Amino acid sequence: MSTPDDISIAVSSQKELTINDKSDGKITGRLMLAVFGAVLGSLQFGFNTGVINAPEGKIKDFMNETHIKRTGEQFSEDAVINLYSLLVAIFAVGGMIGGLIAGWWADFFGRKFGLILNTLPGIAAACLMFFSRHASSYEMVIAGRFLVGFNCGLYTGLTPLYLSEISTPNIRGALGTLHQFGVVIGILLSQVLGFPEVLGNGQNWHVLLGLCIIPCALQLLVMPFCPESPRYLLITKEQEEKALSSLRTLRGTSMVDADISEMKREQSNSRAEAKEYIKTNILVRNRRTMGRLAISYKIKYKVIGMLHLFKKKSLWMPLVISVIMHLSQQLSGINAIFYYSATLFKSAGVSEITAAHATSGIGAIMVVISLITIPLMDIIGRRTLHLTGLAGMFIFSILITLSLVFQDQAKWVKIATIVVSLCFVVFFAIGPGSIPWMIVAELFSQGPRPAAMSISVLINWISNFAVGYLYPILQKAIGHYSFLPFTGFLAIFWVFLLKYLPETKNKTIEEISSQWEKNPKRAT
Ligand code: GLC
Repeated sequence: MSTPDDISIAVSSQKELTINDKSDGKITGRLMLAVFGAVLGSLQFGFNTGVINAPEGKIKDFMNETHIKRTGEQFSEDAVINLYSLLVAIFAVGGMIGGLIAGWWADFFGRKFGLILNTLPGIAAACLMFFSRHASSYEMVIAGRFLVGFNCGLYTGLTPLYLSEISTPNIRGALGTLHQFGVVIGILLSQVLGFPEVLGNGQNWHVLLGLCIIPCALQLLVMPFCPESPRYLLITKEQEEKALSSLRTLRGTSMVDADISEMKREQSNSRAEAKEYIKTNILVRNRRTMGRLAISYKIKYKVIGMLHLFKKKSLWMPLVISVIMHLSQQLSGINAIFYYSATLFKSAGVSEITAAHATSGIGAIMVVISLITIPLMDIIGRRTLHLTGLAGMFIFSILITLSLVFQDQAKWVKIATIVVSLCFVVFFAIGPGSIPWMIVAELFSQGPRPAAMSISVLINWISNFAVGYLYPILQKAIGHYSFLPFTGFLAIFWVFLLKYLPETKNKTIEEISSQWEKNPKRAT
């Protein structure tokens, strides 16, 4: 129920907001601490995505030895392969569950406490995996991978949400990119620490897996000193005093009127949204089924359920864009390169050890390019960077296919396979790596944001899993042409996004999310 006061504050501060926002975006110590605390979650996701590659053989040996200890018999080759596939797949299953409930978790526990609470499954998972070797239990590794998957699924929703909600419009792109920057640093760390001469060996693989306790433990220490998201406090919980104090801490100044008035505008939209939602969905249906408690919970937290996203026309387009953004990230084939690069390099004629080191070269390239794109996000803009990234990936995906097809014609073609794969990765890091993670939070206002985040993150985990699972099958079926489906997807997504992806750079969330209210099908 927006009061006339709210609206007049909002309208009168419209001009002041645009001017003041230019002077905002100051990088204060507390903002940096909050960003660091949140990005530890991204690092955890990256580390656990990459960590399982190097010690595969050692973990399989451990499974076999354990079975021999228990039964006196060897596992069959198929049994080990199946058990290991379960270990790989269960991380994604945990991730899907975590991703799906991330929105609810963020609203129920809050962004800050939600992150703090999420360290517990991470720490429990690290302990399970670390002690599995002493306890001779591969079941503990599997349970640990499931828990850490759940932990990472939650992080992929919570971290971008928190980062976008503590930013000002003019640095939101840079802060959003830091999530992916954390991911690629995590991947690179897992690759380097996984070298056989470091921890990726028979003696230390359990230490390598158990290292995921570090990001969680650090986050548990840091996050209590970070402010809660002011948007969550003001819009979701209606605690204006707390929101003000959190904003002042983050911005390092008491002049936070522009931020507050922008949030108040979003608050009045969000109240209207919640009112409409409750009127159309809950009061009629849930009075009988869920009772008053549920109604008051939804009113209090203004939770916009996932189903409402599908029902409200003005939310369709941003939802479709969000989903396509995540599909364009995963169905670009990046993880086909990332998971199977060692095989690719070996087929180009390099030795196994060199292939492992070259794989970490991919990780290092991703780190460098992601770092370069941090300032570019707010200068060039998300739309241009994402479309440029996809276009480059499209071209290089064709070159990857050509180099695979003509691999045996000359030695230089083999080297070219490596070079074009690296270029493919460079274009991924320019935009498609980071932008899908940040853009969902930008396209929606506070009410539907967490539900939209959950759906997009879930799609990301499902499509990531599908590529990891299906790519080897595709390789068997169509050999050197296995990259062509990705080329097709890249073309389709590029055309769609060229037409519908709006530029979000330097705009307030309210400006972005309100555009579909006026015209639900609005193209750029
Ligand atoms: C993104 C993707 C992830 C991928 C990573 C590679 O974070 O979501 O699936 O492995 O980038 O850098």
